[in-house]
Amino acid sequence: MEGLRRLEYRGYDSAGVAVLTPNGIASRKKSGKLSNLVAELEASPLPASMTGIGHTRWATHGAPNDTNAHPHLADNGKLAVIHNGIIENFAELKAALLEQGETFLSETDTEVAAALLGGIYRELTAAGDPDPLTNAMRKASQQLEGAFTLLAVHQDSPGVVVAARRNSPLVVGLGDGENFLGSDVSGFIDFTRRAVELGQDQVVTITPDEVVITDFFGAPAEGKEFHVDWDAAAAEKGGYPSFMEKEINDQPDAVGQTLLGRSDAQGRLILDELRIDEAILRSVDKIVVLACGTSAYAGQVAKYAIEHWCRIPTEVELSHEFRYRDPIVNEKTLVVAISQSGETMDTLMAVRYAREQGAKVVAICNTNGSTIPRESDAVLYTHAGPEIAVASTKAFLAQITAAYLLGLYLAQLRGNKYGDEIADVLADLAEMPAKIQNILDNADKVKKLARDMADAKSVLFLGRHVGFPVAMEGALKLKELAYIHAEGFAAGELKHGPIALIEDGQPVVVVVPSPNGRDSLHAKVVSNIQEIRARGAVTIVIAEEGDTSVEAYAEHVFYVPKTPTLLAPLLTTVPLQIFACELASAKGYDVDQPRNLAKSVTVE
Ligand code: M6R
Repeated sequence: MEGLRRLEYRGYDSAGVAVLTPNGIASRKKSGKLSNLVAELEASPLPASMTGIGHTRWATHGAPNDTNAHPHLADNGKLAVIHNGIIENFAELKAALLEQGETFLSETDTEVAAALLGGIYRELTAAGDPDPLTNAMRKASQQLEGAFTLLAVHQDSPGVVVAARRNSPLVVGLGDGENFLGSDVSGFIDFTRRAVELGQDQVVTITPDEVVITDFFGAPAEGKEFHVDWDAAAAEKGGYPSFMEKEINDQPDAVGQTLLGRSDAQGRLILDELRIDEAILRSVDKIVVLACGTSAYAGQVAKYAIEHWCRIPTEVELSHEFRYRDPIVNEKTLVVAISQSGETMDTLMAVRYAREQGAKVVAICNTNGSTIPRESDAVLYTHAGPEIAVASTKAFLAQITAAYLLGLYLAQLRGNKYGDEIADVLADLAEMPAKIQNILDNADKVKKLARDMADAKSVLFLGRHVGFPVAMEGALKLKELAYIHAEGFAAGELKHGPIALIEDGQPVVVVVPSPNGRDSLHAKVVSNIQEIRARGAVTIVIAEEGDTSVEAYAEHVFYVPKTPTLLAPLLTTVPLQIFACELASAKGYDVDQPRNLAKSVTVE
């Protein structure tokens, strides 16, 4: 249950477990959050067991009810299966199995995989196969298409769990007289820090003393062992009421850790992880940033900095749009794939496509041992620590920080910036953790406003230059956490349409650029505030300390410490996160597990 609790952020519309007992498989499953399963187990406890599987679900096939919850049973209740991903050919397989006389209780693709596995298991057993569960898993996996991590236990194989993975995450935890499997290491972090990454299309069989890895055809394979460098406490709330609040408060550390050890005393960047030939990096003529959701907004922030520092044209594209539109990428393109989880299927597929076209891929990722870094040419890890709340906060700031480091590194390598210029930016970056802390320490006003606005029906966000992606991220946080309609707009776009939305009392959050920043952007955004206010908007302004010019036009002003324009998103985002989190909490919503979402979107 503890392991499932730690993994619940990945999906939380139903949960279930199955354990092997001397009398066969015992299973319980329940729709809703894990707490419902816990209650069910208290009412109807399972027998003691040393081997079992458990699952939390994010529904793809069939409603999130008890029947569709995993595990699914097959082979007359002797086999139990859990599954992440989508089996794309399940309809064909199901039709064939129905013809063979199989019956199904649920609407899931998982039950089809279980029935397929059960049928093969029976055939192999009849033929005297010495390891029918592992071999059945190999054979079944050969027939399955799509994305899957499948785990199975069979009542005739005590002490054995067999798993297969394709396009969906699975890690092994190596214990002493016990071994584990998990979608990520948090599932077994209480027991071991030794973990093994599995490769694509591999089958693994674990017993208390052994871990055997092969490909789908039985050829021996090796996983890559790694040490989990955070402990269970990092995945706990640490006294905060929610992971979301903890993670917002972790941000000074997330940024500090991401900067740590990546430059020398002279302010030169040392990115040892960037194992791509320097000649190739010098010849890059285009950068394409690929990501989804919040990570894509981090990419949009980074674009301003990378283009400014490196003079390399930089595009930011949603991963799922990129690969279906015949994009122009080649050997001179550097793809930067940004993903907190390292498992987002859309981004993984886009990375594969880009590499097939000859592009080099650098991943910016927070999760050690995940798939996207493994399939990229190089990885810059963000050291934000585990992010458990489903809506991303600290990973966003860490991604921006890592992307800045990458941009500065390219500028250093290609000679676009003098050493002292780079050292100056690094010095400014080094001040960011303390500045973020300053915002966190003075958050009462923003929290109060959030509580006062709990009944808002719609909130608009405006920003310009790097403030534009910040505005979109602020809107996304409010949608995700508080289920309030929210949109982020480029302030300059206002007059081209969105201003029609402004009516009496419409709250608008405006991210104002520094008055010392580029050209006359500050004055233009201040004019925008006046324009919307004249039409009845309630203006909520995020501005730089000392910028009193906004006060005459704002109902509410929140100040952030002074900082160079390109680095400002590391500060201006924070009040927007606090605002969304506090407003959602005031409405009584679960800020860690918002409705309909999952942390890692491992299906396309
Ligand atoms: O793990 P990733 O960074 O690849 O995830 C990308 C998005 O799914 C993620 O940022 C999503 O938008 C979050 N719900 C944002 O809070």
